[in-house]
Amino acid sequence: MKNMPEFKRHRRLRSSAAMRSMVRETHISTDDLIYPLFILEGENTKNEVPSMPGVYQITMDILKEEVKEIHSLGIKSMILFGVPNEKDEHGTGAYIKDGIIQEATRVIKKEVPDMLVIADTCLCEYTSHGHCGVIHNQDVDNDESLALLAKTAVSQAEAGADIIAPSNMMDGFVTVIRKALDEAGFTNIPIMSYAVKYASSFYGPFRDAADSTPQFGDRKSYQMDPANRLEAMREAESDMQEGADFLIVKPALSYLDIVRDVKNKFNAPVVAYNVSGEYSMVKAAALNGWINEKELVLEKLTSMKRAGADLIITYFAKDVAKWLSE
Ligand code: PBG
Repeated sequence: MKNMPEFKRHRRLRSSAAMRSMVRETHISTDDLIYPLFILEGENTKNEVPSMPGVYQITMDILKEEVKEIHSLGIKSMILFGVPNEKDEHGTGAYIKDGIIQEATRVIKKEVPDMLVIADTCLCEYTSHGHCGVIHNQDVDNDESLALLAKTAVSQAEAGADIIAPSNMMDGFVTVIRKALDEAGFTNIPIMSYAVKYASSFYGPFRDAADSTPQFGDRKSYQMDPANRLEAMREAESDMQEGADFLIVKPALSYLDIVRDVKNKFNAPVVAYNVSGEYSMVKAAALNGWINEKELVLEKLTSMKRAGADLIITYFAKDVAKWLSE
């Protein structure tokens, strides 16, 4: 054996497609996908979001058809955002009985009862000032906003939502929502907490889609500083103690270290939110012919799962479901 090389031949396990699939460590499936939708009031309207080609705001009648298509692709859950006509200081549209998300939830559960409806629980789409809670002295009042969030969660559950996903980053939101849901008899409805949510420029296109840009200031007094890692652990820890059933990390792509940290430290399903700006960047490059969209998206989603995500909220969900079934 005198010519035995002194190195390891890693390429042996990459020699063919079959060999590579045999040793592949990470897989994406349609079970992992959560599809976000923007719901408009009125009827017969489908507006493409300019900064998000392929993403639409749709009215309830169009939603009826859309949910059947989503279901037929094998996607099992959706997260809903409302785009109401009327807004006010207190975000009333978020918690009224016939609010847009409440109505959309009823439509979906009637058309496709198996579809899991995740209600994003926040006020920013419904407040005239665009902030995620009630404003006092130019800042969002934490405790006053909590009561409205709890009310929103209960009205969403009453409408048939399967999972409540509070996203407004007020301290204590899991505690008050859990208590309110339990008191209203919804002890079996899980909370998917946006536990770790950074104040990110990657949300720009979403704010066009949901018409939720803050009218003054920014969200830095409640969303997290992108520079911080230990703070993410504190956020996730308190949400777990307060009773969160799922932990969301958002955005996903620039925060995969945080996804891994959360996965390693907490025993709960981890959800990566592949946010609007991450979508728009890929779309822009793809529309220019600069990248291979399918390969790139599948690589990104695989990376999120490799980092530890169990589930991924993504505007690419329908495309991915189609690609996976090819
Ligand atoms: C509501 C909310 C936002 C997103 C999800 N829920 C916007 C924000 O916090 O400004 C962003 C999602 C995306 O960018 O895709 N608070």
